[in-house]
Amino acid sequence: MTILVTGGAGYIGSHTVRMLRERGRDVVVLDTLELGHRDALLGAELVVGDIHDRALVTDLCRSRGVTQVVHFAAYKNVGESMIRPEKYWLNNVAGTVDLVEAMLAAEVRNIVFSSSCSVNGTPPAVPVTEDAPIAPESVYAESKAMVEKILGWYGVTHGLTAVNLRYFNAAGASEDSRIGEDWTQSLNLIPLVMKATLGKRPPVQVFGDDYPTPDGTCVRDYIHVDDLADAHIRALDHLSEGGATVSLNVGTGIGSSVLDVIHAAERVSGRTVPYEIVARRTGDPVSTYADPTRIRAVLGWASTKTLDQIVDSAWRWHSTHLDGYGS
Ligand code: WQD
Repeated sequence: MTILVTGGAGYIGSHTVRMLRERGRDVVVLDTLELGHRDALLGAELVVGDIHDRALVTDLCRSRGVTQVVHFAAYKNVGESMIRPEKYWLNNVAGTVDLVEAMLAAEVRNIVFSSSCSVNGTPPAVPVTEDAPIAPESVYAESKAMVEKILGWYGVTHGLTAVNLRYFNAAGASEDSRIGEDWTQSLNLIPLVMKATLGKRPPVQVFGDDYPTPDGTCVRDYIHVDDLADAHIRALDHLSEGGATVSLNVGTGIGSSVLDVIHAAERVSGRTVPYEIVARRTGDPVSTYADPTRIRAVLGWASTKTLDQIVDSAWRWHSTHLDGYGS
């Protein structure tokens, strides 16, 4: 009854591994450590290896009695995906095919997949439901949309069942600040706000304040990483109870603007966040946030953390780990 977690030494993976172990589940992590950190595992069992290595994965599944897989291992830099698309097709797409073939060889047929709200591109309406058109606007997003389809076909051909969790903007860190996001690798808004507040970077560049939103800045759905972790465990339970393949939006249902994030950071840190308004960033959707109705119905999941709690946990983690896991 072991759960194999690929990419378990990464940001969302490590929070999920920790929560699985706290809930008494047996876990084995497969991670190349190219971007993940051994310290983020807090002692969970690690096999250093690649999802492309079918023999390794099949052996691991058989020897450890793996019954289900949570698949995080992927590249996630949208900008890089447009410059080096082959990295994303080979790792995110072909790597998942290798992983699934290796799982099936060991008769493992349940997978929880790290998908992304970016599969919908710029949504035609908010809040975004799972029935919004699939319209990726980057190689990264397309790699996630392709894997969702591929997993669906493995259901038809091999009886695989999958939960595709479409994350909105993952953020925050564990409540005790033992694990969090490696900001040396992240260009996401909240780590950048933390860095600027701590004087580790120049002022935050706010990409446009003339959007048709309440304060003119873009609106996103920031979701605490531990709320995301909980969704994975519920997705595993859905599959072990015989639940069908499904794609689910994982967000709070609440939209927050860039300035809302900056003001939250000022409240929790007690400091002034240096920022400047600059030009819009090409390709940014004006506003996107989840309709969490389906995930509540299917998994009984709902987010628990407010934006202030998310930013507070990020602040406590970053201000005590100025060099990430190097601290
Ligand atoms: C957030 C907001 C920016 C940086 C990412 C992934 C996407 C999906 C969700 C997983 C936007 C603004 C940012 C800065 C800014 N996740 N911003 N100045 O673009 O919403 O999407 O998370 O798959 O695939 O790409 O995240 O953190 O870059 O931006 O003003 O320096 O902050 O315009 O409104 P994004 P982000």
